[in-house]
Amino acid sequence: MSKIAIIFGSGARIGQASTNKFLSAGYKVATVSRTPKNTSSDNLTHITVDLNDPSSIEPIFDQVQRRWGAPSIVVYNAASMYATGENPLSAPIDEFTKVINANTLSAYAAAAAGYKRNNSVAFFFTGNALNSMVMTRLVTAGVGKAASAHWIEAAAKAEQLRPARFYYVDQRNPEGGPAMNAVNGEAHADLFLKLAEQDEQGEPIVVFRA
Ligand SMILES: NC(=O)c1ccc[n+]([C@@H]2O[C@H](COP(=O)([O-])OP(=O)(O)OC[C@H]3O[C@@H](n4cnc5c(N)ncnc54)[C@H](OP(=O)(O)O)[C@@H]3O)[C@@H](O)[C@H]2O)c1
Repeated sequence: MSKIAIIFGSGARIGQASTNKFLSAGYKVATVSRTPKNTSSDNLTHITVDLNDPSSIEPIFDQVQRRWGAPSIVVYNAASMYATGENPLSAPIDEFTKVINANTLSAYAAAAAGYKRNNSVAFFFTGNALNSMVMTRLVTAGVGKAASAHWIEAAAKAEQLRPARFYYVDQRNPEGGPAMNAVNGEAHADLFLKLAEQDEQGEPIVVFRA
């Protein structure tokens, strides 16, 4: 198995913890975000891209594949939202479109590109409770998460896609509510690596407490 990972959305929390985790496990890691980073080494590279544009995905895979080979792990951790306040119908369509692109279409494109290049890829999407819970102010993010949970469940169910695996990961707080600002990067990273080491597709919606 090639030990190559792409982490889409490499901020200080889940992105950084996942990068460290896969590097420690012997992977070469490409990170992706809009902020440039000077972190290049033999095992680590950063690609500066805006994931609001789903057509940016294929060139990222091309770049990583030319350098190291086809990734065996794809983590999609980037997310965006447009805050509507208490009126869920107030999002301007161009803003909502960007949210859907970043939360759903670029993630879908990343899963498809990952599978096309390596049919045993393990794909992880950082979700939250919004695929199963409606919070009025978070409607744009919720639509993006719920739509991704849907196509991830479909990909997990499609026998013709095995041995690839697809997961929507949803951290909850210790009481079972949304983790929100108590999000735990280390716990996500541990879970990604643990699931990556399992050959079988498990239950695709993974809810865990941390
Ligand atoms: N379970 C929960 O309740 C819960 C709670 C919090 C977060 N989450 C989820 O966890 C994930 C990451 O959250 P986090 O804040 O901990 O992550 P993080 O790893 O600290 O950062 C994610 C990074 O994604 C990048 N990003 C965002 N939009 C992008 C875009 N359009 N193009 C390229 N990169 C983009 C941002 O970097 P740049 O600004 O440099 O682009 C951001 O720093 C999200 O999917 C979020 O929904 C879940």
